[in-house]
Amino acid sequence: MPHPLLPSTKWRTPFPNQTQFIHGGDYNPDQWLPDHPDILEQDAKLFRQTGINSASIGIFSWSSLEPSEGTFTFDWLDRVMDQQAKLGNRVILATPSGAMPTWLAEKYPDARRVDAVGRRKQFCDRHNHCWSSPSYHERVKIIDTKLAERYGQHPALAMWHVSNELNGECYCDLCRANWAKWLEARYGNLKALNSANWAYFWAHQAFKWEHVEPTDVVMDNMAVDWRRFNNQQLINWYTHEADILRAFTPAIPITTNFMTTMLNLNYDAISRVVDVVADDQYPSFDSDSPDFALYGAFWSMKQDLYRCFKPGQSFMLMESCPGAIQWRLPHKAKRPGIHRLEMMQAIAHGADGVCYFQFRSGRGSMEKLHGAVVEHWDTEKHTQTRRYRELRSLSDTLEKIAPVLGTGVKPQVAILYDWESRWGQHFSMGTGVKSPEWHVSWLNYYDGITTEQYSYFWQRGIPVDVIPDDRDFAGYKLLIIPMHWMMTAQLSSKLRDFVQAGGTIISTWDTAMTDKANRMLLGGWPGEGLGEVFGVWVEEIDRLPVGTPRAIAGLPGSGSDVACITHLTGATPLATFASDFYTGQPAVTHNPFGNGHAYFIGTRLNTPARDALYDRATNDLSLERIIDADLPLGVTAQLRGTADEAFVFLLNFSAEEKTVPLGSRSLVDAETGETFKREVTLEAVAARVFKITR
Ligand code: GAL
Repeated sequence: MPHPLLPSTKWRTPFPNQTQFIHGGDYNPDQWLPDHPDILEQDAKLFRQTGINSASIGIFSWSSLEPSEGTFTFDWLDRVMDQQAKLGNRVILATPSGAMPTWLAEKYPDARRVDAVGRRKQFCDRHNHCWSSPSYHERVKIIDTKLAERYGQHPALAMWHVSNELNGECYCDLCRANWAKWLEARYGNLKALNSANWAYFWAHQAFKWEHVEPTDVVMDNMAVDWRRFNNQQLINWYTHEADILRAFTPAIPITTNFMTTMLNLNYDAISRVVDVVADDQYPSFDSDSPDFALYGAFWSMKQDLYRCFKPGQSFMLMESCPGAIQWRLPHKAKRPGIHRLEMMQAIAHGADGVCYFQFRSGRGSMEKLHGAVVEHWDTEKHTQTRRYRELRSLSDTLEKIAPVLGTGVKPQVAILYDWESRWGQHFSMGTGVKSPEWHVSWLNYYDGITTEQYSYFWQRGIPVDVIPDDRDFAGYKLLIIPMHWMMTAQLSSKLRDFVQAGGTIISTWDTAMTDKANRMLLGGWPGEGLGEVFGVWVEEIDRLPVGTPRAIAGLPGSGSDVACITHLTGATPLATFASDFYTGQPAVTHNPFGNGHAYFIGTRLNTPARDALYDRATNDLSLERIIDADLPLGVTAQLRGTADEAFVFLLNFSAEEKTVPLGSRSLVDAETGETFKREVTLEAVAARVFKITR
């Protein structure tokens, strides 16, 4: 019988005809070649020894490729491409637009960004070009065309990498003119714009499109719009470059690297234009941190979010760090086993490639102390290092688990992740998101609260999809909508239909608070008709300093941070507050609706309270677990497979050895072939892969 949690067929891998996991890294030999002409020969040996089978090349190489306008020096890149082909490696070739050369910045000042106070930036830094600059568009078109012409048919070329970590804002006149055009296209007329912005407030009414001043912080819908607009500028830029490349190499996938859950961007929208989803991740979890498992759950949630960007396709890590990250203080060495755990976690959730920044550390500049595959030891010492042993062993694992490649998972639970809701909540003064605590820990807001809901399933080995709200909900039994701040009539009726048809939905506070213009919904929250589904309306929200406890009765544990003062209009309370002036009023509610159920969480529940609530809400759903036994604390199980084969990943996010009961499962270690029945013992921070035989 097909496994209920597995898709019947394989998914598309990042590279065409991919037969092994991508184990790669940014490779910048152009920084070495001028003083170390033999670096390619040294590195060839190191690539082979370590088992690194892919290289991302040329990401910031513009000044080495075109040292003066119209003079192209491709000889070094020819050598690098040929070297990679000879090694049997596959190349991710970048366009160099992530960093402009000095001559360009000097000759074409419009290529440089203008900051919020109107100053044109000097040549500095990277990721610094104006989105609208005609000169930059043109110069990039020339260099990208040259690259595509020269390397489009190169046997090593497997993927294009557009620019690098596209992000940021420009306030020049051209970008401002595009902003005005964007507003006009979105709102059609000024009345609609002013209404969306609630612009009669403080005399902010716009009498022409140009009146909407992006540096003004008064109208929070405008803050959201400015991000929508910049995201679109970014997409337009990406498309400009991708179109050039695609014209030469229609069969070569194109991507750009994302930055996890970067607040100012909407990666859901961006993911729709790339061929492959690729993330740059730099987790700070460590085995000696008390929050190890919580961070582990966050990064798992992030991987699920990335897996779900493109249904039916696997994703990849474009960057991660195999050692200590120099921009994070203290500059702490990665503890033994942590790197393997981080990489295997990504694979467990659907990555078919794990790559590093970078293959070889530079000798100078800002990133000389950033961990790399090869650091400043000499070639002969390479194999004596811990780094080498860990990466070599990971390469061996990846070879052994090659059958996992292209397999997927089909969860019964989904969490909605809404980038615009995050903006709406963040920029609304009074939500507390911009309070000092926000800067101390993201764990207290959107990503953190989402992770807390996710953790329940993570700890129980129940796979979860993390999806945008325009997906089909039909295949899921349970939908969780943490802080879905913005609500439309369309989404509300889709959620309603889902519950009506027998689905279960769980929401936290701060759902359905505003419309898409970030204006408060009227009539109490959750608004836009969702109150009827939940059987409640919230009159007021008591937002307290992070960590302020709110005692509750009816569920074990307690609440904190927020208290929704809630009226029941059909729901029954599962917990009531036992604190403050709302003692006795509902804190957590349940409402049977149609054939389904709706649960509303009106305070930030701690783990015992959340577990009890989720136990109750999932009790009748018969959610399929990967292992039908209780996993020890800090251990998660994840699943990948097809109708033919299934693989279980056991990941130990704790600093202790853990014995995992296997229930009725029988597992075979995918690396050693050893069979396990009843239980398997995991070392501290272990990450292991098993084939399910029963
Ligand atoms: C990334 C970037 C890389 C490198 C790395 C260092 O954000 O794409 O080029 O700077 O950070 O952690």
